[in-house]
Order: sequence, then structure tokens, then C-alpha cells
Amino acid sequence: MKIGSYAETHAGEARVGLTPDSALQLAKLGHGSVIAAGAGAAAGFTDAAYAAAGVEVLADAAAVVAASDVIVKVRPPEPAEIEAMRPGQTLVSFFWPAQNADLLEQARARGIDVIAMDMVPRISRAQKMDALSSMANLAGYRAVIEAANNFPRFLTGQVTAAGKVPPAKVLVVGAGVAGLAAIGASVSLGAITYAFDVRPEVAEQIESMGAEFVYLDFNETQTDGAATGGYAAPSSPEFREAQLKKFRELAPEVDIVITTALIPGRPAPKLWTEDMVAAMKRGSVIVDLAAERGGNCDLTVPDQRIVTDNGVTIVGYTDFPSRMATQASNLYASNIRHMLADLTPAKDGVILHDMEDDVIRGATVTRAGEITYPPPPPKVQAIAAAKPKEKVKEPTPEERRAAEAAAFRKQTVNQVALLGGAGALVLLVGLVAPPSFMSHFIVFVLSCFVGFQVIWNVSHSLHTPLMAITNAISSIIILGALMQIGSGSWLVILLAALSVFMAGINIFGGFMVTRRMLAMFRKS
Ligand code: NAI
Repeated sequence: MKIGSYAETHAGEARVGLTPDSALQLAKLGHGSVIAAGAGAAAGFTDAAYAAAGVEVLADAAAVVAASDVIVKVRPPEPAEIEAMRPGQTLVSFFWPAQNADLLEQARARGIDVIAMDMVPRISRAQKMDALSSMANLAGYRAVIEAANNFPRFLTGQVTAAGKVPPAKVLVVGAGVAGLAAIGASVSLGAITYAFDVRPEVAEQIESMGAEFVYLDFNETQTDGAATGGYAAPSSPEFREAQLKKFRELAPEVDIVITTALIPGRPAPKLWTEDMVAAMKRGSVIVDLAAERGGNCDLTVPDQRIVTDNGVTIVGYTDFPSRMATQASNLYASNIRHMLADLTPAKDGVILHDMEDDVIRGATVTRAGEITYPPPPPKVQAIAAAKPKEKVKEPTPEERRAAEAAAFRKQTVNQVALLGGAGALVLLVGLVAPPSFMSHFIVFVLSCFVGFQVIWNVSHSLHTPLMAITNAISSIIILGALMQIGSGSWLVILLAALSVFMAGINIFGGFMVTRRMLAMFRKS
């Protein structure tokens, strides 16, 4: 099959759906590629680079459409672009079928099969095709860079000869893909970072990234993300009030607010109100990633950067990925390439549009003259949502005490049996062995018993201190062995040498393991 792409028609869109790298990968699937001259220029890919990757460079978009079986692009097509395609062709691009009902109907009527990249279900297997996530990741990072660019201070704290600079305080609202990327960028630039999300399960993730989760004093269990395909469910009005109250408290303190809150299919929730903006310090910055869906901030103007009367900059750009067009195109084209890999299971250049495949089915919005949107929920998700969580029964205090007593009894019986066995062995040996041997033998048996008890009862978390103790024991062994090594008997010399050797392995091995463990906690 021939995969083709041409320059985006949307004003200012610099990304492109096919890159030289993705074309090389498509060739491995048995597909040829064509591109319109200059299509990759805004994203930094020259026609020569495409040609070097084996892509046929054609004069214009019309020539590409005529030569291709599959058109790959970024933005949803204009009606004229659908009209220019011929029945039976496949289009792979962002499409937003819920918001573009007319376009969907036009594609159906024209007989175009549309695979909407924004409809790829958020399941683990589809992560490599999840273009929304790869673009949101870029947007989250870029939002912090944009905020820093508009912020009149350092993000990190500094102590200089001229004085002390406190670190900036950044609040990230919504810790989805974009939010987590923003948290990562903000923490790495040295800002004190706070984050809030309605899904409490992300708190751990936020904290593991070095940010602080903003907890609300509110008792409402939010819906588990698994039931809503990995997305949050709308929160109750009471929850929203508690959230806004917390934000009002934070507004005068924070320097930068990055809002990314969204529930798919709904307008962006208004979370940063006018009075919060008014309460912010002069020079503060708000970057509203949800601007395209109405914005999380009351004052956001989509596609614009405004400065309020009290000196707060509000950035409402909706084209962050396009502002990093080379990176964005590489990631997006790679998402498309993975989608085409799923559509070409035999890697023979023949597309098999398998509507039984959850991911392909989910993303296909028109097929063979039918509208196939909305898709049924993916099977994987259905299982996750249907399966109730198994509750682990908490034992009562009495049950816990009884279990502890039983465990103690069992342990005591074991120890007594072990001691009894060892005693019987000593007595048996004592019947035949000389007294000098017996005194050493008893010490040996007792040390085995004590050593076993010590090692067996140490919890796993204490194994490093245990290693220090065994190192100390090994040192005593080495000392003992060194005292014996000068003996006249070759057997004693051999045993002493062996002891030094084995205790040495224990000590050096212990040091090496400890070094490795410490390295795991060290920042590179
Ligand atoms: P996502 O669905 O992964 O994350 C949204 C997060 O918001 C979820 O974690 C959700 O739990 C949270 N949320 C929902 N309601 C909330 C509330 N009331 N309070 C706090 N948190 C709430 O979405 P993703 O992919 O991270 O995208 C985030 C936003 O960024 C979207 O609005 C998306 O359209 C936008 N975006 C903007 C771009 C731009 O250039 N401006 C580019 C890419 C994405």
C-alpha cells in the first residue's frame, strides 16, 4: 500500500504526519510512502531527507492523494480535503468525531474509512499508538517552559552573594498525562511543585515525582478510573466547592498555575476563577492547557497570551505540540506507524482492517460507508470495570491475637525440637569422641543454632545491617584462622586457608552488594 501525507492546511500547524524515520519503519511493513514537496519543512524535515529515506516526493497534495491508498495527517481534515479523497481510501488523523458530526457524515457519504487517532482507547496494549498522550506529554513539558519564559524570576531557589532567592511555587491542576509531564519539568527546574487531581490514586505518583499532593478535607470517594476507561468521572458540587476553597487559599501563595483538568467529552471545568486570579501576586503566570475546550481559568482567551490588570499573565495557547514541531511530528508519526503495524499483521504491505481488534475498532469512526462511532467499550476495560474489587477481610483484634499466639506456639515447638535433636546428637558423639573435641563441638553446635535463629528471624528490610553483622563474624573467623594457619599439621593449614578464603568472599561480596544497593538511591 502507498501511505501519503501533505502539509497541514490549518493555519500555523507545523507538524506533519509522516517523517523520514516513520517512512523507513513503514517500508519494513511492506508499505511505500509519498509526500508533497515541502510538507515537512515547518517541522524541520527537508524533501532531501524524505527522498533519502525512500519517500517519493510529489509536487502537491493533489498528487499525493491520487497516488496514495492511505492518507496520514495531523489535524482533522477540512471538508474540501474529504471531498478531494476518493471512495475506499483510508484517512488516519485526529478527527474528534463527537465534535465533528458533519465531517463524520461527510466522510461516511464519501466512502472514506477514517481512523481517528484521538479515539485510540487508553489500554496498555495501545500505548504506543496513543497520540493524545504523546502530544499531551509534550504540551505539559512546554507549558512549564512557557510559564518560566513569562515568569520574571528564577524557578529554582538560589543563595547568591547578592541575596537569597526563594524558589517559585508551581501548582499543577489535573495530573493526567500533561499534568504529570508538567510536574516532572517543574520539579526538575527546581520549583516547589504542588499538584491536585480528583483521582486520589495519582497522589502516590505525584509524590514519587517530588511534588506535593494537595489533599482536600473532604470525604468523597471518586470513581475508580478503570470504570471510566482511565479517565476521571465528574465530581459532585460539594467536592467542587471544597476544591475551589482550597485553591482560593493557595492562590496568593503560588507563582505559577498550570491547569490541565479535563474529562473527555465535556467542556473543561472552571477551576481557577476570576477572584483567584485577582488574589495572585503581580508577575504570576497561569498556563491553561484546557484552553481549547473553554479553559480551566475564567479569564483564559484561547490562542492568546493576556496580562490582567493585576499583572498576572494568562497563556491560552492551544498549539503547544506544534511549537515543538520536530519532536511532536516524530512522536506522532511513530504513533501512526504503530497503528499501521497493527493494521498490517503479516508485514506484507496488505492492510487488514480487523474490526475484532479492540484498538482498531475503537479508533475506526467510519468504515465501508457506515459510521462506526461510538465504539463499544473495549473488552479489556469491560473486564476491569466489571470485576468488583475483592475485599481483603480485616481480622478482628481477637483473631489477630489468636493468630499471633498460634504462630508463637509453633515457633517454640520447632525450637525445642531443634534443641532436643542437637542435644541428642551431642550426647551420641560424646559417647565416642575425646573430651577436647567435645568442648569445641558443643560450641560449634550452639553457634549453628544461634546463627540460624538470628538469620532466620531478621526481616528482609534489615538485611543490610545483617550483612554488616555477618561481615563482623567473618572477620572473627579470619582472625581465628590466621592464628591456626602457622600450625604444623597440613590439614589445619588447609582448613584455616579455606576459612580465610570463604570468609573473604563473604566480606568482599557483602561490600559489593551494599555498594550496589546504595547506588540505587544515589542521584546520577
Ligand atoms: P488526561 O485526561 O490524561 O488528564 C486530565 C486530568 O484532569 C485527569 O487526571 C483528571 O482526573 C483531571 N481532572 C478532571 N477533572 C478535574 C477537576 N475538576 N479537578 C482536578 N483535576 C481534574 O488529559 P491530558 O492528556 O493530560 O490532557 C490535559 C489537557 O491538556 C486537556 O485539556 C488537553 O486537551 C490539553 N492539551 C492541550 C494542548 C495544547 O496545546 N494546549 C496539547 C495537548 C493537550
